[in-house]
Amino acid sequence: MSNDPGQGPGRSHWGSRLGFVFAASGSAVGLGNIWKFPYITGEYGGGAFVLVYLMCIALVGLPLMYSELIIGRRGARDAMGSIRALTSHSTFGPAFSLFAGLLAVGGGFLILSFYSVVAGWAVHFLAVSMKLVPNAPEGVEATFSTLLGDDRLAVSRAELVPVLWHTVFMLMTIIVVVRGVHRGIEAVCSKLMPALFVILILLLGYVAFTGGLGQSIAFLFKPDFHKLTAAGTLEALGHSFFTLSLGMGAMITYGSYLNDDRSVVRDGVVVAVLDTVVALLAGLVIFAVVFAHGLEAGAGPGLVFKTLPKLFVAMPFGTPVAIAFFVLLIFAAWSSAISLLEVVVAFAVDSAGIGRGRSTWVLGGAIWLLGVACASKAPLFDDLDNLTTRYMLPIGGLIIAILAGWILRPADRAAGFVALGGEQGTLARAWLVIIRFVTPVLLLIVLLWKLGALEKALPFLFGA
Ligand code: TRP
Repeated sequence: MSNDPGQGPGRSHWGSRLGFVFAASGSAVGLGNIWKFPYITGEYGGGAFVLVYLMCIALVGLPLMYSELIIGRRGARDAMGSIRALTSHSTFGPAFSLFAGLLAVGGGFLILSFYSVVAGWAVHFLAVSMKLVPNAPEGVEATFSTLLGDDRLAVSRAELVPVLWHTVFMLMTIIVVVRGVHRGIEAVCSKLMPALFVILILLLGYVAFTGGLGQSIAFLFKPDFHKLTAAGTLEALGHSFFTLSLGMGAMITYGSYLNDDRSVVRDGVVVAVLDTVVALLAGLVIFAVVFAHGLEAGAGPGLVFKTLPKLFVAMPFGTPVAIAFFVLLIFAAWSSAISLLEVVVAFAVDSAGIGRGRSTWVLGGAIWLLGVACASKAPLFDDLDNLTTRYMLPIGGLIIAILAGWILRPADRAAGFVALGGEQGTLARAWLVIIRFVTPVLLLIVLLWKLGALEKALPFLFGA
């Protein structure tokens, strides 16, 4: 039993390795890839930013991805339970697991509450594209203002519309998680992810004909290092683990439903590659549309919800293209939201012994309630976004790196490398060096920067 804790009786498992890869890449591929990656790339100047982002995926993302998967797989419980099980030999174990576990469960709870609101905007735009809901008479920007709740002329409506779509999206998420790991999450993600790829390829084919693709390729892949700033580098670092769903136990939880250690490293690499490919392809499509209309890349957070809908209207086959794009966004967000809810539900099921059905409805309902507050109060929305992505995720990532690099038993640490030359193999050694020294230092830098300390200490770096 202690050698192979993952085979505990009664615990859910993925039906197949492919099912796990779909679910985990579903978690990783989300609003971060299709909404956030393109707009930060646009803001920070393109190619050079992309290059730094790819390096961060390799130096921070991948090592942390492996750490989380192996902690989950060996611990075979929810995030807090897995960490507790694997650190029982250490004096710091209980404190670590409590802190990391609270961060994970709290993080899932808080992130999902505003993530669902943003996903709700996508559902709204899908409904608008399908002409089920009218556009605001003043156009797309006014439609988006309604969602943001700053449409002062129609206060009551402004609060109701985003709440309605947030409710629809939370229900979609709850219904999947209630059905469990195999029949719910795996079954749905195995359909969503292939569909997402097909839509993305179709959109890419479309922009190949409407122009702008050449410029888009040059923008994303021709590095211009003059445009790279310290702030851009740090943003890339922070985004590299948000996009892979790291730092709050999502991959620990998904790893805990794996059947064996053998291919943990390989599957982690596959998930990271799929996530990166989707971000790059989405960027190619979005910037091709933007450049085809002679616009600038640096539109900021409104890129996907303000700029694109306006451009689609003016394009050939605009309606089906807009529909395809928002379906893509919703599919991506849905499979990520599922993983956020699963982190919280797994905690209730494994650590508190509450049934899955009851846990999902009660916790999903509580998250929905917080989301309702976010949907109608923009400051709360921003605070939660900042608190989680700026502080909780990097702290969570740092703790996981320290756990994996310094506290885990060697046998647990090496388990995923068995098929790749064992713990003495080059890959395993490289990972150990990176997770011990490189990842924590880089994460500490992000954290200090986000706390504002770095900017104060080294003002010349930031041009302040
Ligand atoms: N990775 C998702 C995205 O790119 C968001 C996400 C889902 C996430 N689960 C997470 C981020 C857990 C951090 C932690 O949109």
